[in-house]
Amino acid sequence: LATKEVSLAGVEPGQAVKTIWQGKPVFIRRLTEQEVATDDGVSLGDLKDADARNDNIGSADATAENRVQQGGFVVVLGVCTHLGCVPLGTDTGENRGDYGGWFCPCHGSHYDSLGRIRKGPAPSNLPVPPLEFISDTTIRLG
Ligand code: FES
Repeated sequence: LATKEVSLAGVEPGQAVKTIWQGKPVFIRRLTEQEVATDDGVSLGDLKDADARNDNIGSADATAENRVQQGGFVVVLGVCTHLGCVPLGTDTGENRGDYGGWFCPCHGSHYDSLGRIRKGPAPSNLPVPPLEFISDTTIRLG
């Protein structure tokens, strides 16, 4: 796997950045404590996909603990799990959908701020790619 280092320096809670890794968009959002608490309060039984879809840990519950990185960073592939469009919600002012995460305008899939599918035709959560923190402010994808 080709790897890529991404600096997260200066990304404050509530802010987001995008990058490209292996030809695919990767969304990185630093959640506020309130966002983590709100979305972690959702019962797994209410989720369309209760698996964390996190390449770093294998099969696990789709909780904040299993999808949020240190510092409150959510890192997901920006590819809708329905038919592969790029969801909106990373850039300031974009539609974040009904659950405050990402919205796929192709057929109306709504993801929450943990990147979990909550409404619409997409079958599964936005995957968390393989990654590692190589310093407090830098991650390596792949
Ligand atoms: Fe995203 Fe269909 S590709 S909703």
